[in-house]
Amino acid sequence: MQKIKIAIVPGDGICQEIFPYVDELIDKLNLEIQREYFEVGLNRLLKTGRAIDDETIEKIKQCNAVLFGANSTPKESLPGYRSPILSLRKELGLFVNLRPVKNYLSSRNINITIFRENTEGLYCQKERFIDENTVVAEKIVSRATTEKLARFAYKYAANHGMKRMTIVQKSNVLKLSDRFFLDICKQIGGEYPEIETSAEYIDAACYHLVRTPERFEGILTENLYGDVLSDLAAGISDGLGMAPSSSFGEKHALFEPVHGSAPDIVGRDIANPYAVVFSLILMLDYLQFHNASNKLRKAVYENLNENIVTPDLNGSYKLSETMGLLFKKV
Ligand code: NAI
Ligand code: MG
Repeated sequence: MQKIKIAIVPGDGICQEIFPYVDELIDKLNLEIQREYFEVGLNRLLKTGRAIDDETIEKIKQCNAVLFGANSTPKESLPGYRSPILSLRKELGLFVNLRPVKNYLSSRNINITIFRENTEGLYCQKERFIDENTVVAEKIVSRATTEKLARFAYKYAANHGMKRMTIVQKSNVLKLSDRFFLDICKQIGGEYPEIETSAEYIDAACYHLVRTPERFEGILTENLYGDVLSDLAAGISDGLGMAPSSSFGEKHALFEPVHGSAPDIVGRDIANPYAVVFSLILMLDYLQFHNASNKLRKAVYENLNENIVTPDLNGSYKLSETMGLLFKKV
């Protein structure tokens, strides 16, 4: 049998500090996984003039799954710059970004799954000046992608016993694009009568998410709203340092933390590794390494119960100490 092959793409900033430990974890779990490493992002851009290229994308496509860190975006706009994660989402056809939001550290009852469209909306990056004082940004909503997204979300929700799905949009203002998105999602939701579907505007959804997160279970939304809502959801739960995500297409799957490269804390050995470790756990589940994922999940929960956390969670542990103590439990 051919060995499972994963692509490891650490990226920049704190992810370069966290990923070597991930490698050690995979070693410790003794997994029959072949690993291939890819450098993409700002470091690579500074060395080679390119953040990512077609050859790298093709090689990544040959892998069964991708574990991705985060990249630092160059401060100035550089001609020809391609964002690695946006390129990968597009090239791998990763139409859904699934972001589970759970609360491990406080008593709030938050258990939300955000299904974010991942390739369209305003993130198609079709922006242009139409005169020197006016920029236009196009927002794309296609039936094909929205249907795939909604089908995935409802199927996942049904398989996981979820009872409520909220479709988040702004169809009162964006009467064509967001209304189209809402109508398609509602239509597919109609095929799942056991799941209660409701619609909420993005502004109201932000308000309710902060005040009464318990009212949400599944959130189905387009690209930009999903990006904003998932940071917000991370903010009202255990923080960005704890939030993993997975992205799926017809053939490919990619796992990454919700957070970025956190340049403000880089080099201080205080980055919270759990979002990356939870992303690894999601990947192991996807690849059917359930023994390993359960073992790792249990070790993380034990660490959290012992309050072994980094300063972003008011802990006093360094990244290296947090991981050292996790290794002992694996
Ligand atoms: P960020 O998520 O990197 O950081 C936001 C805040 O959360 C910072 O104060 C940071 O210190 C903190 N934080 C994030 N992750 C943490 C962790 N694991 N442990 C402790 N604290 C953590 O977002 P920001 O600052 O807006 O972006 C920084 C860079 O990352 C930018 O260049 C941005 O474009 C990029 N970025 C890349 C992403 C990707 O490649 N998928 C996603 C988000 C941002
Ligand atoms: Mg984001």
